[in-house]
Amino acid sequence: MDSIANFLSVKDVEDVGDWISLAQKFKVNPYAHQHLGANKTLGIIFFNPSLRTRLSTQKAASNLGMNVMVMNFNGEGWQLEMEDGAVMNGSSQEHISEAASVISQYCDIIAVRTFATLTDREEDYAEKFLSSFVKYARVPVVSLESATLHPLQSLADMLTLKEQNTKSNPKVVLSWAPHPKALPQAVANSFAQWTLAAGYDLTIAHPPGYELHPDFTRGARMTHNQEEALQGADFVYVKNWSAYENYGQVSREYDHWTLDGAKMQLTHNAKFMHCLPIRRNVIATDEVIDAPTSLILEQANNRTFAAQAVLYKLLSHER
Ligand code: CP
Repeated sequence: MDSIANFLSVKDVEDVGDWISLAQKFKVNPYAHQHLGANKTLGIIFFNPSLRTRLSTQKAASNLGMNVMVMNFNGEGWQLEMEDGAVMNGSSQEHISEAASVISQYCDIIAVRTFATLTDREEDYAEKFLSSFVKYARVPVVSLESATLHPLQSLADMLTLKEQNTKSNPKVVLSWAPHPKALPQAVANSFAQWTLAAGYDLTIAHPPGYELHPDFTRGARMTHNQEEALQGADFVYVKNWSAYENYGQVSREYDHWTLDGAKMQLTHNAKFMHCLPIRRNVIATDEVIDAPTSLILEQANNRTFAAQAVLYKLLSHER
């Protein structure tokens, strides 16, 4: 069984199928390794809000017998400085080098959520914050969603696809959907990256101007025609993201991209997917969200077992 140093993207995973199978095993028997994490501590650090990621990661650690400490840094922690060599006479109160080193003294694994700024594309796509944390941490780091990727969500989504798929080559569609606020590209980038790594046939539909970075989508079919993409789809994953080129911008020009029942009629009785939280009747209509074909609660449930697989791999690495 392979082992890993950090869990930041699908690139840290040698065999995607093996990890999905491991998550599936934990779903069948969550307490199979309930003593593996005895006397080990997981530190969960949030710089942004969360429901699923926070609770499912905590539950996963608890299923493995770990102690868990959670800290919401924004508002509770010192304001961190990321620049090496900075003269800290402004608003920053603590350098990331001390903060990450100190947390490493208290924890055996650190999990961090740090969203994109959506103001500086170069910094976001260089994963400036997460890579600084990794640089100074002395224990493995797990991404709970970074500026560009959300690997724990994607592993849960891969488990959901595996459980629900009945075909040898299902058509998976990732469709952009409208949203009133600027959202990061992380979930979409990550879903594309993992779906392609797992060997799925992926079509990505988005309006002009909402292209994703090709590093994550190479191998997918790209279209600006949502209805054409939905034709014959077996799975439809909807998600909003703000523009990559015109970085972080949103426009109301494409509000008609909301996924509704009429559009789902174009599919092959497709299963509906979304990572949550979802803005009802903006991203998708109630009819789609509440249909028996909706997998959103399954996806959320699978977050625990995806996180458990990741923590298991990291704990095994220590042994
Ligand atoms: N899908 C997801 O990451 O949910 P939270 O933001 O609530 O953690």
